[in-house]
Amino acid sequence: MESNYKKGNMETWNEVAPRYHKRWAEQMCGPMQSTEKLISDLGVRQGDHVLDVACGTGMVTKMLSRAVGRTGRVVGADTSISAIQIAKEWNQNEISNTDFVNADAENFAFVNEFDVVTCQYGLFFFPDAPKALANMRRSLKEYTGRMGIVVHGSNTPFFTAILRAAEEYIPDYHPAGAPRFDRYATKDGLQREVQGAGFTNITVKDYVFVYSPGTFEEYWKEYQRYVPAQVRAKIDALGTDKTRRFKDEILRNTAPYTEDDTGIITFPWQVLVLTAMR
Ligand SMILES: C[S@@+](CC[C@H](N)C(=O)[O-])C[C@H]1O[C@@H](n2cnc3c(N)ncnc32)[C@H](O)[C@@H]1O
Repeated sequence: MESNYKKGNMETWNEVAPRYHKRWAEQMCGPMQSTEKLISDLGVRQGDHVLDVACGTGMVTKMLSRAVGRTGRVVGADTSISAIQIAKEWNQNEISNTDFVNADAENFAFVNEFDVVTCQYGLFFFPDAPKALANMRRSLKEYTGRMGIVVHGSNTPFFTAILRAAEEYIPDYHPAGAPRFDRYATKDGLQREVQGAGFTNITVKDYVFVYSPGTFEEYWKEYQRYVPAQVRAKIDALGTDKTRRFKDEILRNTAPYTEDDTGIITFPWQVLVLTAMR
């Protein structure tokens, strides 16, 4: 079940990477503002050697490359070939020595090599997250290595407005065997998992950014445009009446964040940034 999920998740990211890049990685908006916090909370310095796990299309990697400069080194690792391809093209003019590798967070084999390991918006996708964390720990230099993790917090109505409605209308919305997306959405839950993997000096900060997708119609349209093809197929299979009710329910869920006069939605977006020592 787990390996089916991983295979499916890889295919999904190969399919959505170009859209993810356009919508999120290229924009420093909403949750993407966490990247600066991650790099400053970790104190990334010139000359550092950094591993960026689940680097996606290379947004964190790009900023890390600039932070470590010519004397540093950055390796971005991801299971999606299409994300890596975009990351390589997007980062080709970076000054520092930056490489990208196609590698699974649970299965790479770096040992005592990096000053810093980062993983932004990746941990909740790993079915065996403790294995991935142990792997990340092993890749760090003994005594001095530090790790930074970013996950979505529990106050993320951009997602939950849809996911709550999906619970009723599309019960198989998440692929079979998929780990819970919100399993590290609380400070305690995240800290416990990282502590269990042997890390020390753990600090978790939460930041609340805002993100406006425009009006409800714009939010709904963008959702359908950017959603993975397999989810899109499930929405299409609902038929007209159920789709209308699904959409109405989402509309109700967005009401608390919608301005009466303009109809513009402004979502809070809570993000947790964890830093720790090996
Ligand atoms: C939401 S994106 C985050 C990308 C990037 N870190 C950022 O902040 O823009 C999640 C990434 O996790 C990657 N991913 C999922 N499972 C993975 C695994 N087991 N090993 C490595 N990467 C994985 C996906 O391919 C995808 O590129």
